[in-house]
Amino acid sequence: MYKIIQLTKCDDKSGKLISCESFKNVPFDIKRVYCIYNTDSRFSRGFHAHKSLSQLIFAVNGAVDFTLDDGVNRETITLDDPSKCLLLEGVVWREMHNFRNNCVLNILCNDYYDDLDYIRDYDMFLKIVGNGE
Ligand code: TYD
Repeated sequence: MYKIIQLTKCDDKSGKLISCESFKNVPFDIKRVYCIYNTDSRFSRGFHAHKSLSQLIFAVNGAVDFTLDDGVNRETITLDDPSKCLLLEGVVWREMHNFRNNCVLNILCNDYYDDLDYIRDYDMFLKIVGNGE
């Protein structure tokens, strides 16, 4: 349903650095990068799956809980360190809850934005993954 990719940290007394490189520590060609920032713990986000998009997601600041669902199993994982990346490939329902400590998310994608790639209806998602009526 998901994989965690641990980035190597270049740790220095002046700060820390991480880097992402296509086909090295990121298993796809990066075509789009977007950020979710100015987050508010009162509001959850996501509530969709993608038909074919691959994403690598990490919290450059703060923390957030990701609830992931493949139509059979539901699991929640926390992103709370920039070096801990969540790789989502295939059709996975994702919800982001409990944004905290001024959470900023960086999301790398293997394709451009396409609204038609979204599955926003949970029942439709279950049908697509073969677990619906
Ligand atoms: P959405 O992916 O639904 O956000 P989240 O999953 O965090 O709840 O996107 C929110 C809005 O931003 C939606 O109107 C589409 C727009 N958007 C873009 O224009 N480009 C992008 O790359 C993304 C991811 C979203």
